[in-house]
Amino acid sequence: MKPKVYITLPIEEEVETYIAKYCEICKWQGETPITRQELLKEISDIEGLYTAGFYINEELLDHAPNLKVVSNMSVGYNNFNLKEMKRRNVIGTHTPYVLNDTVADLTFGLMLATARRISELDSFVKAGSWERTKDDEPFFGLDVHNTTLGIIGMGRIGEVVAKRAKYGFNMDVQYYNRHQKPEVEQELHIKYSDLESLLATSDFVVLLTPLTDETYQLIGEKEFKLMKKTAIFINISRGQTVDEQALIQALQNKEIYGAGLDVFEQEPIEEDNPLLKMSNVVSVPHIGSATKKTWDAMSMRAAGNLVAGLTGNGSISQVPY
Ligand code: DGY
Repeated sequence: MKPKVYITLPIEEEVETYIAKYCEICKWQGETPITRQELLKEISDIEGLYTAGFYINEELLDHAPNLKVVSNMSVGYNNFNLKEMKRRNVIGTHTPYVLNDTVADLTFGLMLATARRISELDSFVKAGSWERTKDDEPFFGLDVHNTTLGIIGMGRIGEVVAKRAKYGFNMDVQYYNRHQKPEVEQELHIKYSDLESLLATSDFVVLLTPLTDETYQLIGEKEFKLMKKTAIFINISRGQTVDEQALIQALQNKEIYGAGLDVFEQEPIEEDNPLLKMSNVVSVPHIGSATKKTWDAMSMRAAGNLVAGLTGNGSISQVPY
């Protein structure tokens, strides 16, 4: 008998056909995304779950006593309670590598948009405010090329960002990471720095670290105060790696120049969040990996992980407990 799996996300026919070769598929048919309460009702007899973002905690695991594999269609897996999953022998998988370039592209998009005020000035032009009499306004921004980039979290995506920075924009690149990476330093001619010096000397601070207990609110008031007044802060990791109130204050008090944000403490962001009123903030709705091509690749990888975890067929990107 094929193992039963539940799919919470829309998937392409090709991906579904692949999973169906090995598994019996049940999937969410609703018009709007499935809620947690609805999901809990659907999973009493499943062995595999294909999803993204739902907290895989005691409550969910209690509702799915036969669960063996949770396949996340994302590289981040901060939604996994790994201790509890390990206790119950539930494997968690994710989709590394296939999204590296796409996320690196968005990182540079946010750097450029914030430094050159692209969103702010786009709104200005579209509002019809670009008048002849204002032709003497130079609309100055900041350069990206020939500056110093500090990357916090030198994983696979960090390496790709460093390469673009070095070879595309002639930037000096420094990084801070839990473990130093001498081979990457040699290959890309970048240098390791402690966190405080990196914050104090970088023109762009890019946060790429995964969200863990150690990185929760890694960047807060003290860290923003260390940054240059002209620094641009980019967060493409998770909203909770930053103390968002401290970020708001740093921007309001002009302790930093601006911020480019793909992720927020609460997603979707609250309408009254002060960040949305700031012209020196570029915000996008957690779209780091969101191109059709990359999502198709992630989706196929997640399907491969699900099948491999349940049947042993194919390779698996299992996250360490
Ligand atoms: C992921 O896959 O974890 C990222 O958030 C992509 O945007």
